[in-house]
Amino acid sequence: MTTEKTILDYDTVALDDTDSALVIIDQTKLPGKIELLRLHTAEEIWNAIYLLQVRGAPAIGVAAGFGIYLLAKQIDTTDFLIFYEEFSRAKQYLDSSRPTAVNLSWALNRMEQVVLAHKNEPIPTIKQLLKETAIRIQEEDIDICRRIGEHGLSLVKPGDGILTHCNAGKLATSRYGTATAPIYLGHERGYEFHVYADETRPLLQGARLTAFELQSAGIDVTLICDNMSAMVMKQGKVNAVFVGCDRVAANGDAANKIGTSVVATVAKHYGVPFYVCAPTSTIDWNTPTGADIMIEERKPSEVTDMWYEKRMAPEGVKVYNPAFDVTDAELISGIVTEYGVARAPFTESLKKIKLLKENEENGR
Ligand code: MRU
Repeated sequence: MTTEKTILDYDTVALDDTDSALVIIDQTKLPGKIELLRLHTAEEIWNAIYLLQVRGAPAIGVAAGFGIYLLAKQIDTTDFLIFYEEFSRAKQYLDSSRPTAVNLSWALNRMEQVVLAHKNEPIPTIKQLLKETAIRIQEEDIDICRRIGEHGLSLVKPGDGILTHCNAGKLATSRYGTATAPIYLGHERGYEFHVYADETRPLLQGARLTAFELQSAGIDVTLICDNMSAMVMKQGKVNAVFVGCDRVAANGDAANKIGTSVVATVAKHYGVPFYVCAPTSTIDWNTPTGADIMIEERKPSEVTDMWYEKRMAPEGVKVYNPAFDVTDAELISGIVTEYGVARAPFTESLKKIKLLKENEENGR
């Protein structure tokens, strides 16, 4: 008997080293069509990140790791200084594709550290180490998401209603997702959650991606418009909110997809716990508060034209299209990391998380 492949059977991001290609699912085509893209050049990789063909903070980090390895592989020199100069140029270029998700620069910096730490080695050895590190970033992502899932699962009970915003799912990571990890793990264990997926205007990641992947997994998911979260919370249908994030500041303020802070405010009003799921690669201890996070602004046509048969707003109208907003730490019940759940005061609890991470890394 052959079972049909679903979106869950495809890698969000993969390396095909034989063809020197970064392979991604083109997420702009979902849910209508599952199409794989093979990216070879710096421009192709930059565009794929910028256009959200690959998106979601951890997946962007994994793509950047494989991407910079492939670009480094193309550098044809035996001279370290020339190699490093070209590597740095490629790194800077990829880093400029999107500004908010810190995982992009986190992954690129980690790859750069490999180069610097082995500057006395032959270039082929450095290239091999870059490949191994990029693969490790992806493997760690799977493990980290699973750990986030376990900690998140301890915060809910069978039969609960869970609301999520945007897509912090498998399509935003290598497996499980962050905000969806407790949902997937719970599903494996028969928890029978009822999930509400916000559609997430203007790019509809909730409708196109979260509803699609959860439905494909056989999870009970109901799609709602962004402006319906207060309604379902007031009706008592939501026991917890899980969202992902793109950057957590040292004080616990968290940037995530536009509209997240509206959900957090409504959740506080109705007494529903609001959890931000974040691998430590998304925590930026060098950014003191949410006010210091750069928020990406995108094209007006995403609001006025995209998804409509005909433009639906008056020609010439002013449009403001920030892609993310910052949820104030005081609205967050907990930040679910791979090392456990950080609670207020976050400045202190996130420092403890950092220590746990350093201890684990030093013990390796
Ligand atoms: O613009 P996107 O689709 O890349 O935004 C994605 C989000 O905001 C996600 O919630 C976040 O990156 C976390 S993904 C685990």
